[in-house]
Amino acid sequence: MDTCHHPTPATAMLPPARGVWLDRFRRVRAQTLKRVAPLTPEDMVVQSMPDTSPAKWHLAHTTWFFETFLLTGWSDYKPFDPDFSFLFNSYYEAVGPRQPRAQRGLLTRPPLSDVMAYRSYVDRHMEGRLSEPLTTEVEGLVALGLAHEEQHQELLLMDVLHLMAQSPLKPTVDPNRQADKHADQTGFHRLEGGLVEIGHRGDIFAFDNEGPRHKVYLEPFEIADRLVTNGEWLAFMAAGGYQQARHWLSEGWDAVRDNGWEAPLYWERTGDQWKVFGLNGLQPVDPEAPVVHVSYYEACAYAAWAGARLPTESEWEHAATTTPFQQLDDVAWQWTQSAYAPYPGFRPGAGAVGEYNGKFMVGQMVLRGGASVTPQGHSRPTYRNFFHPEKRWMFAGVRLARDIPLDAGFAADVVAGLSKRQKSLPPKYFYDACGSELFEAICDTPEYYPTRTETALLKAISPAIAAVIPAGAVLVEFGSGASLKTRCLLSAAPQIEAYVPIDISRSALEGARIRLSADYPDLTIQPVVGDFTSMVSLPPELQDRPRVGFFPGSTIGNFTPGEAIAFLKTARCVLGTNAHFIVGTDMVKDEDTLVRAYDDAAGVTAEFNKNLLVRINRELGGSFDVETFTHLAVWNPEHQRMEMHLVSQVDQIVTVAGHCFRFVSGERLHTENSHKFTVDTFTALAREAGWERANHWVSADPAFGVFDLIAASRQA
Ligand code: SAH
Ligand code: AVI
Repeated sequence: MDTCHHPTPATAMLPPARGVWLDRFRRVRAQTLKRVAPLTPEDMVVQSMPDTSPAKWHLAHTTWFFETFLLTGWSDYKPFDPDFSFLFNSYYEAVGPRQPRAQRGLLTRPPLSDVMAYRSYVDRHMEGRLSEPLTTEVEGLVALGLAHEEQHQELLLMDVLHLMAQSPLKPTVDPNRQADKHADQTGFHRLEGGLVEIGHRGDIFAFDNEGPRHKVYLEPFEIADRLVTNGEWLAFMAAGGYQQARHWLSEGWDAVRDNGWEAPLYWERTGDQWKVFGLNGLQPVDPEAPVVHVSYYEACAYAAWAGARLPTESEWEHAATTTPFQQLDDVAWQWTQSAYAPYPGFRPGAGAVGEYNGKFMVGQMVLRGGASVTPQGHSRPTYRNFFHPEKRWMFAGVRLARDIPLDAGFAADVVAGLSKRQKSLPPKYFYDACGSELFEAICDTPEYYPTRTETALLKAISPAIAAVIPAGAVLVEFGSGASLKTRCLLSAAPQIEAYVPIDISRSALEGARIRLSADYPDLTIQPVVGDFTSMVSLPPELQDRPRVGFFPGSTIGNFTPGEAIAFLKTARCVLGTNAHFIVGTDMVKDEDTLVRAYDDAAGVTAEFNKNLLVRINRELGGSFDVETFTHLAVWNPEHQRMEMHLVSQVDQIVTVAGHCFRFVSGERLHTENSHKFTVDTFTALAREAGWERANHWVSADPAFGVFDLIAASRQA
């Protein structure tokens, strides 16, 4: 960004009623004065680097803008001082020559008092102008002048902070300034992408660079619901982030070495403690607060280190308008990986104000959102801020995004799992269409007690569960499979109006949707195909409804305790504070009952287990000889879990996705854990993820539990 963005107004907008302009003008002009109130006259003259401008210059330039574009040529207006056009023009070639940008700090004359008199003079004439009827074109210029002044309000604080940071006294500009907000949830939203629209619609004021609205195609992606924190940044630093070229873009690595960067701007180390200088003075770095004042290069290096990337501006805007974001626009602008370029069909406006945007569309990167120093109401989801990639003095932070490796995920997970010393595979890959059917067949075996037991328990307690479900609720079910147990809740709680089953198995979801919609014609059913360990966004039309979560089947037992806690935290984000979450868990019991349940006499579970190898052969070109593997189900008393393995009966080499893996005779491939719980172990696990137990029920033997959890108001 140059000294200011100078975007022209969008061509179409609805003007506010007359008289409102005057009121707005007064408010915006007063805000600027409020921002300089803590400064001394000396503070206002100095320019700390070529990118910044003295506060006095900002005061004058914003005034010059109104004088040049709204007063000159109006009625019998006479310029306050003919020299000011040269002194306070920023970069309008069409308006004439100007004081060089890097030498704005040499303007000790006119004194501050003259600049203040200039403001009053122009304000007085603007009041006259705004009291007259205005044409639509003039209204557009007034809106632009006000938005322009708001941009300078932000620049002013950025520049003042940079100036104060040069002082050995580290003066505090605003001792009452609020610390940046912490995020209270954490996770990635998954978005399906497709053909979406971005850009302003023309119904409210927007700068010309925000349009025209147009279509873009997005691959599926994930985007963080919050900004990267200082604590995460400290981990990046501790891992040698600023010392290892491999994370950095080539130009970024040059910048690290040329500038000696070892931390974000304004961070300084005293002993082993990091402090950060802000408008509220020098403070210890708060690990929970978002990191601010990082360059594009640093943002990219951090993302690469974290196994992620920056979002494109289209991804950012699509996500921001369809998904709840934390720290959207109140902490730091968020770097995107998009170069600042015109949208299709963009045309700069006519005349001098057309110089604002188009001419800066090269060599800069787009930032989205808004910052703590951005005047309230100034930004919008379509707003395109832009800076050169090495700049750090603006309030810029990081929101991460990730690609969704679709089939690559299966191949990569299988190759990684078979490369481990103890070979293992993630159990979610059991559920292709055949695996989902085999699971249903397992549920019908006499040995597999969990499904029958839980269904009977749910029927018995469904009135108690129904009592906590709010009217108009959306029921969100994780790993819904055939959605059979769901019927117990739907029948007992007709106040459930919508149902969002989330499952990795497309075939299971499709079958369930068809059968449920026949039996519950009034129910809105919106299936989501995906991995429930990622943050899944609910369809926008259901987002305002109260939510109830449902996770039956003891599928939670298929996670390790760490994974279960992470999942429960994600579910808490998806469901929101005060939501109820009904979770089914199988309970610890005698080993014999357990082993028989996972090794039924008809061999259905064995077939389910081996189907994973069949799937690898089919989808990844694997060469497993399935008959050379046997099914093994064992109780692991240390971890209180049933384990399923496939045991190679011979020495053999198997190829998968072009990789070779050796199995020795007797070697186990670990395919699934099914943790079993007690009331206390599950309650403690849930509590670690911010859930409290509101109620619970345990069946008679064979024991199966159903827990009614409620989201505690702050995450644990
Ligand atoms: N809830 C049903 C089905 C349980 S079987 C019941 O209680 O009977 C487990 C279900 O979770 C399967 O339908 C499987 O496809 C789904 N599943 C397993 N791992 C998953 C994951 N990571 N993301 C989404 N769904 C998953
Ligand atoms: C889905 N999940 C809870 C089942 C379980 O009991 O762990 C899957 C299963 N594995 C073997 N039999 C059933």
